[in-house]
Amino acid sequence: MFAPFAFTKMSFDSVRAWLLEEEPHRLEALFIAADSCRRDCVGDAVHLRGLVEISSHCCRLCHYCGLRAANHEARRFRLTRDEILECVERIAQAGLGTVVLQAGEDPALSRDFIADLVRHIKKHTKLAVTLSLSERDDGDYVEWKKAGADRYLLRFETSDRTLYERLHPSRGEPFDRLAAVQRLRDLGYEVGSGVMFGLPGQTTDSLAQDLLRMSELDLDMIGCGPFIPHPQTPLGHEPANIELAGSLEFAYKVIALCRLLVPRANIPATTAVATLGGEAARAKALSCGANVIMPNFTPPQYREQYEIYPDKACPEEGAERFCADLDERFAALGRTVGQGLGSAKREMA
Ligand code: 5AD
Repeated sequence: MFAPFAFTKMSFDSVRAWLLEEEPHRLEALFIAADSCRRDCVGDAVHLRGLVEISSHCCRLCHYCGLRAANHEARRFRLTRDEILECVERIAQAGLGTVVLQAGEDPALSRDFIADLVRHIKKHTKLAVTLSLSERDDGDYVEWKKAGADRYLLRFETSDRTLYERLHPSRGEPFDRLAAVQRLRDLGYEVGSGVMFGLPGQTTDSLAQDLLRMSELDLDMIGCGPFIPHPQTPLGHEPANIELAGSLEFAYKVIALCRLLVPRANIPATTAVATLGGEAARAKALSCGANVIMPNFTPPQYREQYEIYPDKACPEEGAERFCADLDERFAALGRTVGQGLGSAKREMA
């Protein structure tokens, strides 16, 4: 297996030490261990998830995110049912196995609207449906599961409570994202979560805790990415935490540790990584633990309005063209394009 390291039982001290590690040979060994763990546990297929950003409206005030309600310079959009279904059709036509419907926290996306969409997609396509619609009433999660949704993504962002509460003002009743992750799992969803790294005020210790928390949660999917300041947010002009975000190398380290701590998880080479380092960074992420990418199928006229952070990576040529070239690009990396739904395995082989 992935000797010489027994990572799944890593202590806090060793996770922390890896986060601080700078010696190139040791880091190379870490990346190689993560890559062979990835091969042994989830194979060589890279699964593609077709992303559709269905609304950039958001009622929240998260200090890091460009979609925050108080960003009055943001132009906003909400796709119609037909527009969403057109994107879904394109994703199915392009041969992908999953659609991810993502939005800001938008109360206008009603329980029934989403449930009806999910039912329609499940009835007319073979796609797995992943929802990424933030904090919602329990009844929404229940209904959407009944409608046939397969997966839910809800990052916990940081396990440092004080930092979380400072950056993420609640809307009244505090909402416990870790409890929600557990609840979603109990409802039968495959569940994804994760964090940003490099947030102002975040420490190496708290990121080490985050990684251990992901291992305890035994997540089906893990999405972690570097914090990228957005100028129209309160954190826009605060320097990122350099120790944690200074280099892409750090992002690869986090991906590698996620793989070793949760070997069976589906882990994307995130858009934030591609934003900082382009396609080369995406390829590198795939070689140190990642096994998923999420091509963006949001209609071009809306894509730049979904500005979580500036200059978000998105292939100019369009998602279909981007996907069409992947066979060759992956072959060069010794990888294949995933077929089927690419669901997470519950039990390790
Ligand atoms: N930089 C990087 N990632 C961000 N996200 C939100 N704002 C930023 C930012 N400024 C991430 C959060 C959220 C996901 C959809 O995008 O982790 O969960």
